[in-house]
Amino acid sequence: MANSSSHKLSYIIFFLSLSTFASAALKVGFYRSSCPEAEAIIKNAVDRAVSRNPGIAAGLIRMHFHDCFVRGCDGSVLLESTPGNPAERYHPANFPTLRGFEVIDEAKAKIEAICPQTMSCADILAFAARDSANKVGGINYAVPAGRRDGCISRKEEAGTLPSFTFNAEKLASEFAKRGLSVSEMVTLSGAHSIGIAHCPTFSKRLYSFNETHSQDPSMDPSYADYLKNKCPPPRGDRSEEAAMALDFSTPHRLDNRYYIELKKNRGLLTSDQTLLSSSLTSKMVLKNANDGSKWAAKFAKAMVKMGKIDVLTGSQGEIRRHCSFVN
Ligand code: HEM
Ligand SMILES: *[C@@H]1O[C@H](CO)[C@@H](O)[C@H](O)[C@H]1NC(C)=O
Repeated sequence: MANSSSHKLSYIIFFLSLSTFASAALKVGFYRSSCPEAEAIIKNAVDRAVSRNPGIAAGLIRMHFHDCFVRGCDGSVLLESTPGNPAERYHPANFPTLRGFEVIDEAKAKIEAICPQTMSCADILAFAARDSANKVGGINYAVPAGRRDGCISRKEEAGTLPSFTFNAEKLASEFAKRGLSVSEMVTLSGAHSIGIAHCPTFSKRLYSFNETHSQDPSMDPSYADYLKNKCPPPRGDRSEEAAMALDFSTPHRLDNRYYIELKKNRGLLTSDQTLLSSSLTSKMVLKNANDGSKWAAKFAKAMVKMGKIDVLTGSQGEIRRHCSFVN
């Protein structure tokens, strides 16, 4: 009796694991026969958009991160709100700063025209992030694909994204929840080598740090002066729309200069500078500062891993016709 039920159990476990393996693996070249031109279409759309505005590369890399960290890489960040259901993209962590939606929509429209309902929006976003990293950083990697699109997007769920106020320990625990190591967290933070952050994300560090320090002592004072000049004390008005480069030295180049800036105490966000201040991560920062090509290789690997978080595959989810709407 005990024997036969444990037999049954092992059969169940066997088939369960078989079915998760069958559906869980993303594959490089997933669209090679079903839509051979798709990757080139995406690359072309990214190339043109980023040539017009280099900030779009930053936007697309960030968008892939925000997609993957909320409900997995399922394109949920791309969905529009529906009556009674505000979508992820309208959470303050995403709105109004997340950018590049129009590039995904353009690529999707062109791909639908030649291969209807074949390539998921989640995959288009993963490719677009890679193409962005390639265009502004010369970083290249193959993107395993086969993600399917989710049908749910809830504004409040974007509240689980890591905050710019977090210290290294809190950041590490958020990344660990998604299967990413401390070192991968530090490596991926190197994406802040491009793009911008708006004044409200760092003005506390300039004006109201804590009871004893109005200014964050972990910030280079001359860098703080420079920032204060662009970001006046918050008045709750339009002054908050100003934004500063996340990487003071090479704001449009995805490289390891971000880590070198951290060593000069010129990290813009608390969540940046903490990587140097914390003993958990400081050695990793120094390593990345010293070896740009090693960092780039680790960045490529970590992007691939991030792109696998909680993906839908096989017959799960759907292939959206339009990235902003479920079918
Ligand atoms: C470690 C935790 C992280 C926190 C707390 C964080 C937070 C932020 C914040 C507050 C901004 C500025 C948004 C704005 O005001 O416009 C930003 C921008 C950005 N983030 Fe992160 N981020 C993190 C990790 C990452 C990761 C892992 C990536 C990608 C791999 C990434 C890519 C970017 C990019 C490229 C920008 C610039 C976006 C643009 O210019 O449009 N971030 N991040
Ligand atoms: C304010 O920040 C400084 C520097 O991080 C720290 O040493 C001090 O303990 C903090 N003070 C309070 C009251 O939190």
